[in-house]
Amino acid sequence: MTQQPPPAGPADPPDGPAPPDLPERVARVYGEFDLSTVPAFAGGFINFGYWTGLPGPADRELTTADRVRSEEDLYRLVLGTFDRPRGRTALDVGCGRGLGCALALREFGLEPVIGLDAHPDQIARARDANADLLPAAGGSPGRLEFLLGAAQRIPLPDGSVDCLFSVEAAQHFRDLPGFAREAARVLRPGGRLALTTFFARTRAAARALPELLPPYADGLDVPHVVDEVAASLTAAGLREVRVRPIGDGVWEPYDRYMAQQPELRDDEWPRRYLTAYETGLLDYYLLTAAAG
Ligand SMILES: C[S@@+](CC[C@H](N)C(=O)[O-])C[C@H]1O[C@@H](n2cnc3c(N)ncnc32)[C@H](O)[C@@H]1O
Repeated sequence: MTQQPPPAGPADPPDGPAPPDLPERVARVYGEFDLSTVPAFAGGFINFGYWTGLPGPADRELTTADRVRSEEDLYRLVLGTFDRPRGRTALDVGCGRGLGCALALREFGLEPVIGLDAHPDQIARARDANADLLPAAGGSPGRLEFLLGAAQRIPLPDGSVDCLFSVEAAQHFRDLPGFAREAARVLRPGGRLALTTFFARTRAAARALPELLPPYADGLDVPHVVDEVAASLTAAGLREVRVRPIGDGVWEPYDRYMAQQPELRDDEWPRRYLTAYETGLLDYYLLTAAAG
């Protein structure tokens, strides 16, 4: 098996039409296909990882444990942007299996933590993966919960969240300005946003990326331009919008990990993300902003 999602095709998933808030291609990849189970990802996370904190010499063989650590460390990088997080209400937009939500609770003391995802199968997987933390299994009520809902229509009241974060989900959002408005709406005055994923560096890059990377061509990902994403946050009323490229901690080690795994090294197009980075088409970014 490879990193690659199934070939794009016209068929609906066997269990019915796509969830209303997701394009068919996105719904399929996180529905029946369950991207978290492919070996390029590991440990139930679905992100490229942030690799700078791994122990040992930089040129050593990378293991599956390193891969999981890189994915957790991407969450740690994001959550580390929040000042005094203990006891603050957090929202993870595009939470996938919800393992980053559990990490936010466990390591950062954010509480309650709400994981939001637009795919009902992902919400079911998140509830399953974190069952021991949920009230039904004796977890304290209100510490962790998973909610079905879309980034562009967050089912939470105005001003109800202190720390809103999103890890490798915004490349799927069709309506980024809508997400930015919703983020500004649900954050309390003084609340903080931290968003990380890969974006196109320029408009011209956004036009070139579908040629190189099938997920842009087949409708899984959208080549949002990073400056336009930042402008959407500002236009939504968020302040202090900062953009930090973090690709030097992502693309080369991710590609090295792929190259070292016999079942992944021949995975042809996923290895092109490093090319896209090195040729200046895309980068991985951490965006932060303040509300109110
Ligand atoms: C690449 S996964 C990342 C999951 C998790 N953040 C992680 O790092 O492991 C992207 C997730 O975003 C969700 N997603 C995609 N579009 C969404 C939208 N418009 N609103 C909310 N969630 C969305 C998908 O269902 C999927 O679970």
